[in-house]
Amino acid sequence: MNTQKILNIILAAVIVILLLKVNSTKDITADVDKPDDKQAERVDFTDIPKINIGHHSGVYPTPTTVVGTKVNGKTNWIAIAHIGNIGFECLVLSIHKSHFSNVGIKKNKTLSVNMISESMMIPADFVGMKSGKDVDKSDVFEYFEGELKNAPMIKASPITMECEVIDIYDTEHHDNFVVKIKNTYVSQTVLDENNNIDYFKVKPLLFEMPKKRYFKVGDYVGGAWKEGAKYDVK
Ligand SMILES: Cc1cc2nc3c(=O)[nH]c(=O)nc-3n(C[C@H](O)[C@H](O)[C@H](O)COP(=O)(O)O)c2cc1C
Repeated sequence: MNTQKILNIILAAVIVILLLKVNSTKDITADVDKPDDKQAERVDFTDIPKINIGHHSGVYPTPTTVVGTKVNGKTNWIAIAHIGNIGFECLVLSIHKSHFSNVGIKKNKTLSVNMISESMMIPADFVGMKSGKDVDKSDVFEYFEGELKNAPMIKASPITMECEVIDIYDTEHHDNFVVKIKNTYVSQTVLDENNNIDYFKVKPLLFEMPKKRYFKVGDYVGGAWKEGAKYDVK
């Protein structure tokens, strides 16, 4: 074997080792233990002066969902981003009293909550722009039914929950529906080997006010119930 051949083999081996190294640093679970220091630097607002901008909610981004109902026997879809967890099995949906969906939700006491992926942005935005009072939105999403009546669930949604209304918290302009999740249907491909949902695969569409824009999920920056262990207690 001449020297040139030996050099080529060494070069190829070095390239293979380098490629293996790059791939191993792409292991996202490993990143959980390595928060991005630059990120931590950027989010220190301690010395930045505060301005009072009034009584605006600053709790954004929130996930975009589409709620499925039946109004007068017909399927209706509404985009809802003012949604929150209550404990582990209940949700609250804040829906303006003027909306068409409320009529069906109050009558049936059932609904579905469908997580919206980035790829579903256009139809989800559409059902947030048009009211069922003016437009028949029943065909916007293909749906399936579960155990509950009048809670159509979107086939294209990676996570969909059929829910029962257990309370309505009334505020000046909104019906705040407290709902209990009865069943959660998840597309197989977004579950990991332990049946946990992988949100990098769900690609939830995030929403913010008041600029009314959609975002996508970014990177891991740390492990919850883990990073705090590094806090230096004084
Ligand atoms: C991304 C997005 C999120 C929305 N979130 C809410 C919400 O949380 N509460 C609400 O009352 N309306 C919300 N809306 C507005 C309703 O979806 C919209 O007014 C809809 O047309 C009402 O439909 P309906 O009258 O058929 O029920 C949202 C709209 C968009 C585009």
